[in-house]
Amino acid sequence: MSEDNNRDSLIAAAKAALENSYSPYSKFRVGAALRFADGTVVTGTNIENASYGLTLCAETVAVAKAMDDGHRGGLEEVAVIGDTPGAVSPCGRCRQVLNELAELGNTDPVVWCAGEEEVVKTTLSDLLPRAFGPASLD
Ligand code: THU
Repeated sequence: MSEDNNRDSLIAAAKAALENSYSPYSKFRVGAALRFADGTVVTGTNIENASYGLTLCAETVAVAKAMDDGHRGGLEEVAVIGDTPGAVSPCGRCRQVLNELAELGNTDPVVWCAGEEEVVKTTLSDLLPRAFGPASLD
C-alpha cells in the first residue's frame, strides 16, 4: 500500500472511532488509530467522566486496547483526529503512553495529526524528544 493509502485508511479508522466518543462535557470528539507491523489496526476514542480530570484520551484508550490484545511493540503508525478544522496533536500524557508501546518494539511511529481540514505528518520522537521509557529504568 502507498503511504497515501496507508495514511487515508488509518485516518478513516480514527474518524470512525470518533463516532463512539463519550464527550458530553467538552463536546470535543477525538478518535485514534494505531497500525502495527502485522497490519493490525486498533482504535480508541475519548471517554470523559463526571469527575472531569478522570477523562481518558483517545490515544490512551487505543494503547490500552492494543496492549490488552497482546501487542508489545510493532507500532508503526498512529492517526489522531478531532472534529475540528485544525489538526489535533496528542496531549503530553498520550505521547508518553504511546512511547511505552513504541519503545517496546524500538519503533518511532509516524503520527498523523488530523482535523477536518488539515493533516500534519510528524513522528513520535519529534513530539516527545529524549523520552523517558522502559530502557530508562535499566
Ligand atoms: N483529548 C484526546 O482524546 N486526546 C488528546 O490528545 C487531546 C485531548 C480529549 C480529552 C477530552 O475528552 C477532550 O479531548 C477535550 O480535552
